[in-house]
Amino acid sequence: MTTETVTITDNTTGKSIECPVMKGTHGHPVIDLRQLASELGMFTFDPGFVTTASCKSAITFIDGDKGILLYRGYPIEQLAEKSNFSEVSYLLLYGELPTAAQMETFTDSIKRYSILNEGLLHFYQGFRYDAHPMAMLVGVVGALSGYYHDYLDIKNPDHRMVSALRMIAKMPTIAAASYRYSTGRPYVYPKNKLGYVENFIHMMFSIPSEEFEFDPIAVKALDMILTLHADHEQNASTSTVRLAGSSQANPFSCIAAGIATLWGPAHGGANEAVIGMLEEIGDPKNVADYINRFKNKDNNVRLMGFGHRVYKNYDPRAKIIREICHQLLSKLDTSTQPLFEIAMELERIALEDEYFIERKLYPNVDFRSYALTAM
Ligand code: ACO
Repeated sequence: MTTETVTITDNTTGKSIECPVMKGTHGHPVIDLRQLASELGMFTFDPGFVTTASCKSAITFIDGDKGILLYRGYPIEQLAEKSNFSEVSYLLLYGELPTAAQMETFTDSIKRYSILNEGLLHFYQGFRYDAHPMAMLVGVVGALSGYYHDYLDIKNPDHRMVSALRMIAKMPTIAAASYRYSTGRPYVYPKNKLGYVENFIHMMFSIPSEEFEFDPIAVKALDMILTLHADHEQNASTSTVRLAGSSQANPFSCIAAGIATLWGPAHGGANEAVIGMLEEIGDPKNVADYINRFKNKDNNVRLMGFGHRVYKNYDPRAKIIREICHQLLSKLDTSTQPLFEIAMELERIALEDEYFIERKLYPNVDFRSYALTAM
């Protein structure tokens, strides 16, 4: 029960209100301003929700100044090293890490839902051959709402869980089918004997006529990428899903809305923009000149993969992923990876540049994702 309050006074009318102060397990206290409009006839102005919590949550905590990210109280560094994406999904959904028996039941249910209704595969044919993968993802995930009509009672926790499991299970199948369509390769169905990440890689890259061999470092890298992106508190895409869901709309269409938000270059689309930028630079010797254009405000451009709305010291996810990226790339023929050298030079120069130091602009997780494109 809250006892602390903050007094807010309208100096024009002299009227005051006592606003309760709420305290979470971590982080700053929060002022409950819900009576502001009814009592003082005022609203708050906070573009970007920089100081506004839209809900109570026990899932994720971020301290952007200290570079801390916790899922259900566990540091992201610990989860990235000792857990895997399936365990982390369980942790986020249920609040605790699973026992071995709970994990088995959980992964079995995911496997049961991983296949798509065959009708959904026809959606891909409607896209142009060069459609953006995110366009296909928005369309096909939204189309799930036309296929799965059971377990949709938002007030029923069992129904919510089934929809969540369906979404987790079908996402790799949908993403892989988008990729296969864009490359003209046959769709590959999920294989239940494989783990979640292996299955995703298998559906993406295997060829039906050949045996497929997994690279354990690539599996670990992708697992880590998924773990690091599993939740990020009240970010733009999550807030979009919550807003869409607040009208009790179909959960799959709400997730499609979140994917649309994620697509933007100021959010998840930044990793694609990083690749475009590295291609444009073309050679490590061009980096120093290239970087100058981002320091001139008149150009109104941003160095992609640098800076973060919340992390103002460093992005802990980018730090974790750096190591696995290097392991992955050290196994590849670097003469076929010219972008990697350009990226390293860009990072080196930017981190020594006064403009970026002063504004606390560090490589974010999207800057590191370029390595996976080399897989
Ligand atoms: N390149 C050059 N300058 C930048 C950059 C950048 N990438 N990011 C911020 N700045 C500058 C701003 O112009 C501003 O300068 P000023 O103080 O002289 O006016 C200062 O740094 C502070 O910038 P803000 O706009 O306050 O930063 P904000 O927190 O609003 O923006 C954002 C965060 C959108 C991520 C921004 O850094 C950006 O556009 N980065 C590039 C895109 C990107 O990588 N997005 C991925 C984010 S991670 C994710 O979504 C998973």
